Amino acid sequence: MNINPVKVALIGSGHISYTYLYNMVRQFSILDVVGCSDLVPERSKARAALFGIRQMGNEEILSDPEIELVVNTTNIESHTEVTRMALEAGKHVYSEKMMARTFEEAEAIAALAKEKGLRFGAAPDTYMGSAHQTARKLVDDGYVGTPLMAQAILIRPDDVTGAAAGIDPGRYASGVTIPYDMGGYYINALINLLGPVRRVSGFARFLEGRVYSNPANPEYGLPVESRQGTSMMTGCLEFVNGCYGNLVILNDAFSPEIHRVEVYGTKGIVVCPDPNFYGGYGRDVYLTRAGCTTPVRMPFTHGFGESDPAIPSLSGQHELGYNGNRGMGVADMAWAIRRNRPHRNSVEMALHAVEIVTAIEQCSLDNRVHEMKTCPVQPAPLADGFLGSDAEAALDF
Ligand SMILES: NC(=O)c1ccc[n+]([C@@H]2O[C@H](COP(=O)([O-])OP(=O)(O)OC[C@H]3O[C@@H](n4cnc5c(N)ncnc54)[C@H](O)[C@@H]3O)[C@@H](O)[C@H]2O)c1
Repeated sequence: MNINPVKVALIGSGHISYTYLYNMVRQFSILDVVGCSDLVPERSKARAALFGIRQMGNEEILSDPEIELVVNTTNIESHTEVTRMALEAGKHVYSEKMMARTFEEAEAIAALAKEKGLRFGAAPDTYMGSAHQTARKLVDDGYVGTPLMAQAILIRPDDVTGAAAGIDPGRYASGVTIPYDMGGYYINALINLLGPVRRVSGFARFLEGRVYSNPANPEYGLPVESRQGTSMMTGCLEFVNGCYGNLVILNDAFSPEIHRVEVYGTKGIVVCPDPNFYGGYGRDVYLTRAGCTTPVRMPFTHGFGESDPAIPSLSGQHELGYNGNRGMGVADMAWAIRRNRPHRNSVEMALHAVEIVTAIEQCSLDNRVHEMKTCPVQPAPLADGFLGSDAEAALDF
């Protein structure tokens, strides 16, 4: 490659840093990963050793003039602090979702990035994977006709019972309820397919009266509390293109995880797999056309899906490496920097996700409809046909 890779460092060497570093170091040629840091030095030390990069401190990263881009994979409570520090230090930032816990904080980050003339982008980038890009192509190429209605549904019952699986029940205390953890996947998937949202309304609340019900949970028997944030929401969306949509997020039901992203149009229906994954995690994209009652499985038109469900564990320990291509959004931002084009996970898109979730919660309290302040550009589709080892070329557009 005769293009200068972008020097990157990662702050926050926790669970998901494994997948990021695996892909950033080994898969994306546009990225040159210099090092990683963490408040807990043992974590960054282990990651640095595993991936052959430097263990660094935050200050060392921020003061290194060669590092252009900081990847913020801290927990959500630290997102704005770390992002702010990196922007102040003159670095472009790619943050894990959501960019901030409140819309006001998110707006302040966006303003800072603009003032500094730096790029900011936030996960999720899963819609850039083979499954949702294939669905996007079907919608763009007219296979569903005019999109009239869409739905995005997540039923995930893990926070109350799941402590044994590593879920931190304490995150409720800072208001990081499920819409702030998972909402972005569904919102970004919808924006990818349909473009931005004009108005929202809806109902949302935190289900009171539950206790932690898993005996393996240190909080077993104690009440589940939320100081901020909701655990169940049903939002109504009106897209700028005229399509209507539902965003349903429920954390309190007893059921297996259920996820739906579907678009219903004048000529057909497209059904997408789980937007938490790039290549559908073994599920496929289905198209039903007018006059045919059988959904037809669509072959993927795009790359970045084939490594699902698992990337290998280099450490010999269980790593949360199931989300195959995390880091695509970072690579897209790096290509965008070098090619002087907009990156797909724009700051406006990250703001839009926070605004949608917070606005649905507020509308539920105020009995009203919210006119969106933000209106991101629909991210450009990836070029189709770049599969397997050529897949990264699709980001060079
Ligand atoms: N775990 C997953 O499966 C997963 C998947 C996708 C996205 N995410 C997102 O990625 C982010 C991180 O998730 P995680 O599961 O890796 O969390 P984690 O708690 O395992 O890791 C976060 C790390 O950030 C470090 N940290 C916090 N503040 C810091 C600071 N100021 N400076 C340096 N380090 C700091 C913590 O010490 C911790 O090691 C979250 O936003 C989460 O929503 C997680």
